Amino acid sequence: MDTKILSTSKEDIRLAADIIKAGGLVAFPTETVYGLGANALDPEAVGKVYKAKGRPSDNPMIVHISHKDDMCKLTDLMTPDMERLMDACWPGPLTMVVPAKDIIPRVTTGGLDTVAVRMPSSETARDLISESGVPIAAPSANLSGHPSPTTAQHCVDDLMGRIDAIVSGDDCQVGIESTVIDMTGETPMILRPGILTAEKLSEVLGKEVLPDPSLLKKPEISKDTGNVVNTEDFRPKSPGMKYKHYAPKAEMVIYRGEEAAVREAIEKKAAELRASGKKVETIIYRDDESEKAAHEFFGRLRECDKNNTDVILAAALSESGVGFSVMNRMFKSAGYNIIDLDKEKGSGKTMIIALASDHGGYALKEIVKKHIKEKDKDIKIVDLGTHSEESVDYPVYGKACGEAVASGKADLGIVCCGTGIGISMAANKVKGVRCGLCTSVEMAHLTKEHNNANILALGGRTTEPELACQIVDEWLDTEFAGGRHKRRTDMLDEM
Ligand code: TXA
Ligand code: MG
Repeated sequence: MDTKILSTSKEDIRLAADIIKAGGLVAFPTETVYGLGANALDPEAVGKVYKAKGRPSDNPMIVHISHKDDMCKLTDLMTPDMERLMDACWPGPLTMVVPAKDIIPRVTTGGLDTVAVRMPSSETARDLISESGVPIAAPSANLSGHPSPTTAQHCVDDLMGRIDAIVSGDDCQVGIESTVIDMTGETPMILRPGILTAEKLSEVLGKEVLPDPSLLKKPEISKDTGNVVNTEDFRPKSPGMKYKHYAPKAEMVIYRGEEAAVREAIEKKAAELRASGKKVETIIYRDDESEKAAHEFFGRLRECDKNNTDVILAAALSESGVGFSVMNRMFKSAGYNIIDLDKEKGSGKTMIIALASDHGGYALKEIVKKHIKEKDKDIKIVDLGTHSEESVDYPVYGKACGEAVASGKADLGIVCCGTGIGISMAANKVKGVRCGLCTSVEMAHLTKEHNNANILALGGRTTEPELACQIVDEWLDTEFAGGRHKRRTDMLDEM
């Protein structure tokens, strides 16, 4: 197939729109990454997108619109939360999953009864959509499994000869794909993190927004396909999250730990590998450069491919804010190949602590968070919410924290609710969790020494903040005694 290269002139956009209307495929720029567009209402055209990308057919497309009013053509649902997000974030890098109307072919939704909708802020993208007069289904314009394209050249590299045209516009500003948020339940859930973070969206909505639990887990990767193996505890709601993604040709290793130590370890390893004749690239960003990292990351991977790099050594960013979204991509590109320097040091010191509370424990959670940050700046906190005093359900948060710890995503967890009782029950339902509710320093000591509690539960309404912080310190500073206690904790873990 002859692939036309088009500009962003009015005339060329009209040409591109004609191709879409006629059932063809056009790659075009958006503010996040380049998309590969087809008429979302034409099953045959959408079928061609899967084929051109080599994409599994159960991985649904995002449907792009150019006016907020077009939302009601795709779904019957319109909640105040949706309106708030549309007002605050559209046009922009936010995709909402909502129930799909029947006019959307199921090939577009990968067979699901929901549809993902986004209104991009890129003017070129919106001009193309409105000129086409139809919603445009557009996954990222890369071959399935390759890093997403952030320049027109990346689309040329992957799709030349496979699609009808490429609109060659500006490089993408954001650099990682839109945030995908599921709006079909009571609590909006982030299915794919992006530049608009859970914290930010939660601010807009004035209520909690949670990450899908699968985002907090290290999945099992199949050696044959590189895809995620669906297990009892890894069932991503977003089908795309289970496929091999963003993989560079080089072997990639992520170093996690204290910033200076990571740099040193990477430099040492790079020198070693180079001495043995390997071509090595390093990808290192500081924690305060997460937006820059998002902007450049996919391009860096593609550069490595072009240079025939053998090994990529990358520094992990702190997993908060946009760093969480960058790391979501980085872990996948590296096939979860991670070297934890802190664990290697065998310091026995906790590095990542997951915090979670309901509304009754919210105030205490915030106090404990501040306390830990002041106590030890090497401890990383992952705050799983809730983010306000608005009423929420403790089982949701107890479970989220339990899963973060059981999966190894966090080393330890702290949960708070009014009394600490309900949320500890929820956490203890997760296999591998040993959550101890403590109301005194002595209990904190013993729950670590004897039970090796990996989650500490506190009561926001029953334990004074000062005592709660002493409990936290005692629990963190106490070592597990092992011996006969180990036999018992092993029995617990088997239950
Ligand atoms: O920034 C972006 O979103 C880019 C540009 C082109 O707009 N598009 C993009 O599309 O990243 P794609 O196809 O590469 O990723 C779509 C993601 C996949 O992870 C897919 O599983 C998820 O959205 N998704 C789509 N429809 C869904 C649905 N109904 N329910 C859950 N997840 C859905
Ligand atoms: Mg993609």
